[in-house]
Amino acid sequence: MSKKIVLLPGDGIGQEVINSAKKVLERVAEIYSSHFEFEQFEIGGTSYDLHGEPLTDETIEACKSADAILLGAVGGTKWDNVPTHLRPEQGLLSIRKELNLYSNIRPIKGFDPLLHASPLKEDIIKGSDILIVRELTGGLYFGEPRERRENGTVAVDTLVYSREEIERIVKQGFESAQIRSKHLTSVDKANVLESSRLWREIVEEQSKNYPDVKVDHMLVDATAMKLITDPASFDVIVTENLFGDILSDEASVLTGSIGMLPSASLSDTVGLYEPVHGSAPDIAGEGKANPLGMILSAAMMLRYSFGMEKEALAIEDAVNLSLKQGYHTADLNIKEGKIVQTEEMTNIVIKNIK
Ligand code: NAD
Ligand code: IPM
Ligand code: MN
Repeated sequence: MSKKIVLLPGDGIGQEVINSAKKVLERVAEIYSSHFEFEQFEIGGTSYDLHGEPLTDETIEACKSADAILLGAVGGTKWDNVPTHLRPEQGLLSIRKELNLYSNIRPIKGFDPLLHASPLKEDIIKGSDILIVRELTGGLYFGEPRERRENGTVAVDTLVYSREEIERIVKQGFESAQIRSKHLTSVDKANVLESSRLWREIVEEQSKNYPDVKVDHMLVDATAMKLITDPASFDVIVTENLFGDILSDEASVLTGSIGMLPSASLSDTVGLYEPVHGSAPDIAGEGKANPLGMILSAAMMLRYSFGMEKEALAIEDAVNLSLKQGYHTADLNIKEGKIVQTEEMTNIVIKNIK
């Protein structure tokens, strides 16, 4: 059966790593006799330059009729001065909203060959395997009003969450915990924020439906600390949009580089798969980008959108083997092994797919 995949490279290193994912998928299709059809569209600054807006109706329509979507990254200093509603990031936020991608799943699991690549001590990160379930279409990112007042001297953003928005992501958190180690940490700021108090109430209510899952509530500031001091104590973390954004970049340190982290952004019907990192303007165009977060996002696509578990595992095993053979990109702080460019890293992974 043929699957239609929309590719949205975006900007900066997004353009480079998307090709890696495409090549890996083409190899998987060859080995496993599956068939993927790719269509490519613009998003972000690249779309702004070409069409005057960061997300066009054409791109939205293509995504709506796709079986799954792969996205590189958006943003860059080139677009620092374009009006707020036309910024590259607005394209990403709009596609999340248009497709109702409310659930962002970010697995953080260190690959054994990279245990010593983290600035954290090996015995602290050993055994850590975390899944961050981040709410993606609500909270401060989308609340109204958002504006300047008093001649621009006062700025307003609005943090708003409805019961329905909280319930569906909290359920996702519980369901994820059920198929893992049955431990859910709900992260909020209920000592200060009203939205967090509603969040906590709903987690308590929902916990009655998942008696096999042990639930903790943790304040976000304490969580930021504990992620570094005792990461192995977490299983699934469920949290709101902005907290999840910040905590997932922090947690990426466990894996040695943000370039390693994949993610899935899911609605009830479709999935968009994107690495956690951005467009990395500081290295864009140099062929240095770590493609593994993007490649692992493609593996997540096979697993979550197409139910192709053994193909997903084949990619993950190939990544692990490539690292074990000592190959890595320059963002990983490892003394031994061989530093390679994006393309070579990709080809090594491809060669290692069984
Ligand atoms: P970033 O993630 O782009 O980069 C942070 C640091 O990590 C940089 O030093 C970069 O070189 C490095 N890095 C990131 N990914 C890497 C990879 N795959 N390989 C090697 N090194 C990598 O974050 P930033 O610098 O804060 O943001 C740059 C731009 O990206 C901004 O415009 C921001 O809005 C955007 N952004 C987009 C997304 C997305 O599209 N999903 C995510 C985060 C940031
Ligand atoms: C991410 C990014 C985005 C976010 C930005 C680029 C809008 O940081 O996907 O983590 O904040 O959600
Ligand atoms: Mn982020």
